[in-house]
Amino acid sequence: MSKHTDTSKLWGGRFTEATDQFVQRFTASVQFDQRLAEEDIRGSLAHADMLCAVGVLSEEERQQIHQGLGQIREEIADGEFQWSVELEDVHMNIESRLTQLIGNTGKKLHTGRSRNDQVATDIRLHLRSAIDLIGAELTRLQRGTIALAADNCDTIMPGFTHLQTAQPVVFGHHLLAWNEMLERDHGRLMDCRARLNQSPLGAAALAGTTYPIDRELTARALDFDRPTENSLDSVSDRDFAIEFCAFAALLMTHLSRVSEELVLWTSAQFNFIELPDRFCTGSSIMPQKKNPDVPELVRGKVGRVNGHLVSLLTLMKSQPLAYNKDNQEDKEPLFDTIDTVLGSLRAFADMVPAIRPKAEPMREAARRGFSTATDLADYLVRTGLPFRDAHEVVGKAVAHGVASGTDLADMSLATLQGFSPDIGADVFEVLTLEGSVAARNHLGGTAPQQVAAAAGRALARVDARS
Ligand code: ARG
Repeated sequence: MSKHTDTSKLWGGRFTEATDQFVQRFTASVQFDQRLAEEDIRGSLAHADMLCAVGVLSEEERQQIHQGLGQIREEIADGEFQWSVELEDVHMNIESRLTQLIGNTGKKLHTGRSRNDQVATDIRLHLRSAIDLIGAELTRLQRGTIALAADNCDTIMPGFTHLQTAQPVVFGHHLLAWNEMLERDHGRLMDCRARLNQSPLGAAALAGTTYPIDRELTARALDFDRPTENSLDSVSDRDFAIEFCAFAALLMTHLSRVSEELVLWTSAQFNFIELPDRFCTGSSIMPQKKNPDVPELVRGKVGRVNGHLVSLLTLMKSQPLAYNKDNQEDKEPLFDTIDTVLGSLRAFADMVPAIRPKAEPMREAARRGFSTATDLADYLVRTGLPFRDAHEVVGKAVAHGVASGTDLADMSLATLQGFSPDIGADVFEVLTLEGSVAARNHLGGTAPQQVAAAAGRALARVDARS
């Protein structure tokens, strides 16, 4: 009789004592990798079909495997599947149940395969589906942002540098700046998808397999672009997960910047926008409070996503080829990144189109901050003054404005001429907010007509996505 005491293990053959109870729990991943069940089943179906096509399995065996995996899929969907920590991970839980259901044929499924290429396949399939969902939410957010921009090509607000009023811009221009960040994020997401979409199936444990497998067939069945090139690399690298987390960290960084502006703008001090009540919460003690919780929370969630990126980079660092158990640690950071990004995008895609800009306070803030001072300097340059001298003249005019509490546009012509005799009555055209934004009339500038055209191009790019 075999000395090996734990017959439930699929790999127990060479062992003479059972796994320590704690080690069993410590090394198991089924608690979190059961999330890969659907991808695991899809991968197994494709593998069984391929084994049959190359003559390793009979058609009858193939059908038995299909029937058994079909039943397992239903058991999982109905919450009836018995997950067991003794069976370590999602792969062995499903395989063991398959053998319970269909007998010895179940044991043939793992021919020419290893959990190493199996998990590498599952996680790519899972991430690919997640990327498609995230891409759709990101597109929905961009559409909402662009539509709001198109409605606000004439809504004047202060543009800031150092969070100090700098020059007037239109609100649509500001929104389209957000959209540019999101457009690049979408591009990074698609790059990541294209690079990960290769099938590692057939790499087996690390060196390939002695069976006459057809890797093109499984790759096609699982909608991969092609099989991976090198078996060692296939079971080892998780760079695609790192790349996704890098995308996610940048996206969340962008969303945190947008969040910060929303938080500022909803404050009584700025009073630039109204967020509908459904995206805000109240205070249990201060009855007047309406807090912008959704943007605040998204701003806070950057922390965990950045953390997951660093986790995965550190996980991969210095790993020798090929598979190492370290890689089991890729899943929780990756799954949490997916969930965090999807939740944040969903909240933003719902909320951004519902932002209500308050045109009057925005305009008033632009007017108050001497935001047309550069326009006055440019005006003087057009009369022949060197820019540095013009800068000096306007600086004096602003100092007078600060001391007397008058805006440049509200000073009399005589007062302005006191700073420079070159100033004429036409100066008031450039000192108005409308004149200032309209003058920046070139590609990428804030003139309303440029912003309207930019919104049209932004929408066309999103429409071209398929
Ligand atoms: N649960 C493992 C993981 O997620 C599956 C692969 C295990 N392979 C092995 N040879 N131990 O990485």
